[in-house]
Amino acid sequence: MNNIDINNISYEYHRGRQIFNNFSLQLKNGETTFLTGCNGCGKTTLTKLIMGIIKPTSGEIKIFGKRADSLSLGSMGEIIGYVFQYPERQLFSSSVMDELTFPLIFKGYNKIETFEKAKDLLKIFDLEKVKNSYPSLLSYGEKRRLAIASVLMVVPKYLILDEPTASLDNHRIDALSDVLIELKNRKIGMLIISHNKTFIEKHKDRVIKLEGGQIYE
Ligand SMILES: Nc1ncnc2c1ncn2[C@@H]1O[C@H](COP(=O)(O)OP(=O)(O)O)[C@@H](O)[C@H]1O
Ligand SMILES: [Mg+2]
Repeated sequence: MNNIDINNISYEYHRGRQIFNNFSLQLKNGETTFLTGCNGCGKTTLTKLIMGIIKPTSGEIKIFGKRADSLSLGSMGEIIGYVFQYPERQLFSSSVMDELTFPLIFKGYNKIETFEKAKDLLKIFDLEKVKNSYPSLLSYGEKRRLAIASVLMVVPKYLILDEPTASLDNHRIDALSDVLIELKNRKIGMLIISHNKTFIEKHKDRVIKLEGGQIYE
């Protein structure tokens, strides 16, 4: 079975150029796929199409067999964990701890378990020292680690990371790698946009390149 089925989609930005014309791509269960390609070729656009943040002008996208356009952004977020290329766009709370715990507590998850989970992630991503800080005042690397931690508060069925190693130093990339290996062992499929060769070599099942709106394997 495929986690993500993209069939013959087309997309162009309003007053922008056409990025995809009859584009198809299948992403399999449990597989870690790396997406590469030059700046501006449409990698981030593809992830936003998958998430339903933007809609294709034609064609269809299926997520675990369901049409993406039938899912609300909220229910999509529960299926696919998505970390934006610019992580500040997904940080909303007034403290790091709140950023991790508030959405779950709001939904009625158990408080004690939620805080325990948050503490584990703060430790893994080396954010304990800033747990009471405003997310907007964090360094770029801290924001990225927080954005990754926040989508992992609930284990997603699939994970999309847009340039996750940008602005992380090597030991933080290693910590992220350990988490990805654990998710892979749990058969969570992933689509990762990255140009970091060591990181790609370590985790890849498949590497695809986007160029001129086409995929090259
Ligand atoms: N909101 C937008 N409106 C118009 N054009 C956009 C918008 N976002 C991205 N683009 C353009 O779409 C192309 C693909 O962008 P993007 O998907 O961000 O590329 P990548 O992630 O591969 O660097 C680029 O030419 C970019 O300038
Ligand atoms: Mg991008």
